[in-house]
Amino acid sequence: MTQLFIKKPLKVILNQAEEGERGLKRTLTPFSLIMMGIGAIIGAGLFIKTASAAADNAGPSVTIGFILAGLGCAFAGLCYAEFASKIPIAGSAYTYSYAILGELVAWIIGWDLILEYALGAATVAIAWSQYFNKLLGFITINGIPLAIPDQLCHSPFESFMNASQVMEHGIMNIPALLSVILISLLLIRGISGSAFVNNVIVFLKVAIVILFIILGWPFMDPSNHTPFIPPPSVYVDPSGITHDFGGLPGILGAAGVVFFAFIGFDAVSTAAQETINPKRAMPIGILGSLIVCTVLYILFSYVLTGIASTEDFRYAGKEASVTYVIETYMTGYGWLAKLVTLAILIGLSSVLLVLLMAQSRVFYSMSRDGLLPKMFSDIHTRFRTPYKSNILFVCVVGFLAAFVPGPVVGNMTSIGTLFAFTLVCAGIIMLRRSNFSENSDQFKTPFVPFVPIMGILICGIMIISLGTLNWIRLIVWMGIGLVIYFSYGRFHSHMQTKNQELKPPLHKHLDN
Ligand code: ALA
Repeated sequence: MTQLFIKKPLKVILNQAEEGERGLKRTLTPFSLIMMGIGAIIGAGLFIKTASAAADNAGPSVTIGFILAGLGCAFAGLCYAEFASKIPIAGSAYTYSYAILGELVAWIIGWDLILEYALGAATVAIAWSQYFNKLLGFITINGIPLAIPDQLCHSPFESFMNASQVMEHGIMNIPALLSVILISLLLIRGISGSAFVNNVIVFLKVAIVILFIILGWPFMDPSNHTPFIPPPSVYVDPSGITHDFGGLPGILGAAGVVFFAFIGFDAVSTAAQETINPKRAMPIGILGSLIVCTVLYILFSYVLTGIASTEDFRYAGKEASVTYVIETYMTGYGWLAKLVTLAILIGLSSVLLVLLMAQSRVFYSMSRDGLLPKMFSDIHTRFRTPYKSNILFVCVVGFLAAFVPGPVVGNMTSIGTLFAFTLVCAGIIMLRRSNFSENSDQFKTPFVPFVPIMGILICGIMIISLGTLNWIRLIVWMGIGLVIYFSYGRFHSHMQTKNQELKPPLHKHLDN
């Protein structure tokens, strides 16, 4: 008989980690963790979702949406930090929940994480395509700027006005697809990133965000911030989708959309095994990167919505909005537009790498546990990477990036991740009621059950604000996951069949 809540003993997890990750040195400090977190966090959420949440949901009050989303993440982050410190091995919410909450919950979280990582990667690839097109536009041949035709960098479900003011549809987003293929090839090859390169990219991203805030500040026009919270109304976008705009519903909707900008802080928890004193460093890394990003996001969104109007973000400045705002309103800063576009492209590439890597790691773990076919944990003999998982996700993520509109995959990513966060928060409450062994120097979430309950409430509000269509998509996705578990996973699970197998070492996380 299948035991749906069978737990994976901590000893087995630690043994597998030791075998699988042999040779990982503990070199990461709280500072390197914060850098890693910021590297994974700042990306498409800030550089494209700020403008789209301002256009569709909240106008300048998108800034309040950032505060709300940051608060929800802080509560969930405190819960993540306890899991990461209790089971300080390379893993994710999937691994933690297998040990603490049992197989069915672990499967649900693992399946849900596909939304976070794979759909998140598709969203970032679509943002990449927008800024890539802008960058091409800076290069001219015989005075004519280079550009990919609109139809070849949009999904067939997106409509836009062409140069002759006629509505057109996209065919496929070729640059987005190419970015997924290129980054996946790097991953298969085993270039998972070096701490030095990551630090340089983080420096670049933070520098351009700060530069934009400082240089853009004098260009703010108070009329764009008036009223700061627009009165409630309904906005129908060019694709015919209706949004609740303004007022409290607008702010809540914006929080759900820009929540995307915080995704990735949980990636810090996957490096626990490479961290010196993870019990202390993990919470500092997770919460530290969250705090830095929240402050930058609030200031950045305040300045961006102060320089350009909501109308700008609905039409001419809908895509690659940061470059648009600088080019259009910040006279004399043409050089900044170019620099920012290039830096954003590099930053987005690093986020894409982290998300695709996290996805293949989770899939690898689920397959190694027997919950998914064995081939997804096959390791390439030379590169030591789970290349079959990588290949599967080139196809899945590449398809989504090429054919699905950015807001659809973006909001699916947000709702999926919010759901995972609520489960992690609930997990902490359950953990306190279980007899899981305690160790006095492990980090403990403070004020339980207040903190997890607040995490569940705020993430729950954001889930509700994302609207019926996204709930239906989430329910369908989780339904498919349950069908796979009940028809395949539970019969092949190594915990159920007591057939724990060890796989050869993976390529390590960060090379110093
Ligand atoms: N938070 C990441 C981004 O905004 C996923 O791109």
